[in-house]
Amino acid sequence: MQSKEHWERVYSTKATDAVSWFQEHAERSHHLIRGTGVPLTASIIDVGGGASTLVDDLLAAGYKEITVLDLSAAALAAAKSRLGSRGAGVRWLEANITEVVLPVHAYDVWHDRAVFHFLSTLEERQAYVRAVLRAVKPGGHVIVATFAEDGPRQCSGLPVVGYRAEELHAEFGESFALVQHEKEAHHTPVGTVQQFVYCYCRKLAS
Ligand SMILES: C[S@@+](CC[C@H](N)C(=O)[O-])C[C@H]1O[C@@H](n2cnc3c(N)ncnc32)[C@H](O)[C@@H]1O
Repeated sequence: MQSKEHWERVYSTKATDAVSWFQEHAERSHHLIRGTGVPLTASIIDVGGGASTLVDDLLAAGYKEITVLDLSAAALAAAKSRLGSRGAGVRWLEANITEVVLPVHAYDVWHDRAVFHFLSTLEERQAYVRAVLRAVKPGGHVIVATFAEDGPRQCSGLPVVGYRAEELHAEFGESFALVQHEKEAHHTPVGTVQQFVYCYCRKLAS
């Protein structure tokens, strides 16, 4: 089954608060985004945002330029319908991050929780990093969270790659400076614990 079909099926058959990655509030992501110090007018993209409530909390905090990109139309529809008129200003992009051509230097903040770790081939990871290099402004902020080295080896029935912070930074290369990294124990809706690592990098200005 192709990846898109997989994710469409997941979001069409499961409640958005029943999936293992569900967070009532994406507190650490929100905290890291606020910590960048970008203004409320900054352009923020949540890559593979799915039906995450991060967009709700960013809107409530006053951020105005938010894009949510996901492979799954069903995931984006769920987030859109939850937000109703509050989501009127959000840009929704149904796309594969390893194939999409994003506008050049469009985003101040790139956020991804639990997407990069699904990229199992070097080609996919390189395509992802090329997208970051193209779409994030020089000096922009890149926050990527994956399963940690002691995290699960599968998610949603798919294989994943777990990372140490330094390994995750190394995937992005010398064009990015590692500013901060944190681990988080995520408690799934069924009570299991998954270790995540959050890496916050700055894209170098040149
Ligand atoms: C584990 S979920 C995480 C969702 C969200 N970031 C969160 O933390 O709640 C992974 C998401 O990535 C999306 N996804 C998987 N592969 C993708 C790709 N190549 N391009 C864009 N989105 C992708 C899926 O549709 C799904 O919504």
